[in-house]
This record gives sequence, structure tokens and C-alpha cells, in this order.
Amino acid sequence: MKRLLILGAAIVLATIAAPRAHDPITTRVTWNADIAPIVTGRCASCHAPKGSAPMPFLTYDQARPWARAIKEAALVRHMPNWRAARGYGDFLDDPSLSPFEIALIAAWADGGAPKGDGVQKPAPDREFRDAIGPLPRRMTLPCGEAALPKGRLHGVRARLAKDESVGVALLLPDGRREIVAWIRDYDPRYQPMYWLRTPLRLPRGSKLITEGPASCSIDVSISAR
Ligand code: HEC
Repeated sequence: MKRLLILGAAIVLATIAAPRAHDPITTRVTWNADIAPIVTGRCASCHAPKGSAPMPFLTYDQARPWARAIKEAALVRHMPNWRAARGYGDFLDDPSLSPFEIALIAAWADGGAPKGDGVQKPAPDREFRDAIGPLPRRMTLPCGEAALPKGRLHGVRARLAKDESVGVALLLPDGRREIVAWIRDYDPRYQPMYWLRTPLRLPRGSKLITEGPASCSIDVSISAR
């Protein structure tokens, strides 16, 4: 009986200790070759020493303890923290992960999160608004219905209360409506300008209309032409 108890305790200890000692590596997906380009490209705008997120993910040693949490956040699309709903508008700077990238992250985390050989691959270049040229004029409009100057709409940003959502559309002089963005579950810690991939033409007499809370405001970036 006593021997059995000792054996039992030894097995329990072994199973507790095993994952801490070293997760077995069961994947060929590695940080250096596959994951670093995704995470440093899509997450490090916030997950860097001076970013808005509490923990940096610039190196393997920084990201490794978070491998499981990174997988969970990517799978449920809690991260990257991007609040423009899919299917409404097409934006520059959109850091959303593709299903393939999510699958790579999951395979990496589930397979023991290996580092891999060599040095980490850099993130591919992406199209950012900052790289495109001087910023257009910015103005703040109340939610509801507001007149817009003639020109071109480049970006919108909502100022809402926490967890509120708002739909933003253009009402053109010919009566057409064009959806600009649907910003959902607003988080005041995170309020980017959503830059349109293709700026929208604003003929004279265009209006901005919103659907959602009565009291909020929308920042718009507009160029003269
Ligand atoms: C725009 C900023 C921003 C971007 C981009 C971003 N994060 Fe975050 N992240 C945060 C903030 C802020 C927190 C802390 C608050 C929270 O958890 O929402 C956080 C927390 C986390 C956490 C902690 C656990 C959790 O789920 O809250 C994980 C894991 C995470 N982020 C993974 C990622 C990954 C992976 C990416 C890229 C694919 C990413 N983040 C991109 C801002 C960002």
C-alpha cells in the first residue's frame, strides 16, 4: 500500500513537472521563420516597450511565455485590437490576421512554441497611411447628420463611450448612401483613425450621417481634392 502511494505521488509529480521542464516540440512552425514576421508586423505597434499594451512581443523571449494567450487572442479575434467591423469599408493599416496566419500561430503554440534556427525574419513591408503623404485637414463633427465640405474623405475616427458602436455613412447629394465604417465595442484606450484604402469623393452638399448613440462625435480627415 505504502509503495503504491509513493508510486502514485511520483506519477503526479512527474505529470506536473513535465510541461514546465520543456514542452515537446511537435511542429515545424517556428518563431524565427514564421511567427516573428506576423507578430512583429501586426502586434508590435502596441506590443512594444513604449506601446499601449502591457507586454512587448518583439523577441522570442518576450513572446514565448505568452504563446498560448497569443493563440487564444488570435483565434477569437480579440487581437489585434481593431474595431472596424469586417465587410464595411476597406482600410489601410488594417492589422487583421488571415485564417492562414491564425492557423500558423495555433500550430506554433500547440506544437511547443519552438524558436527555430538562425535569426528572426523581419515583418514584410505594409502599406501605412503615414507613408503616403501629408495629412489632410481634420475636423470634428457631431453624431447624427452633419454637412461636409467638398473634397475627399480619407479617414474617420469615432469618439464614443466605452463599448458603444456606431455606423458611419455618407449621404451624397444624389441621395445615395455610402457606408464608410462600422466601429464596434469602442475602447477609449484605443482610438485610431481608420484610413480608407480608397478615399471617397465628397461632392458639394454631401453629409455625414451616423447610426448609433445620439451624443458622440466623429473626427474626419478631408483633403480639398
Ligand atoms: C492597437 C493595439 C494592439 C494591437 C495592434 C495588438 N494588441 Fe494585444 N493588447 C493590446 C492591449 C491594450 C492589451 C491589454 C488589454 C487587453 O487585454 O485588451 C493587449 C493584450 C494582449 C494579450 C493579453 C491577453 C488578452 O487576450 O488580453 C495578448 C495575448 C495579446 N494582446 C496578443 C496580441 C496579438 C497576438 C496581436 C497581433 C496579432 C496583438 N495583441 C495586437 C493592444 C494591442
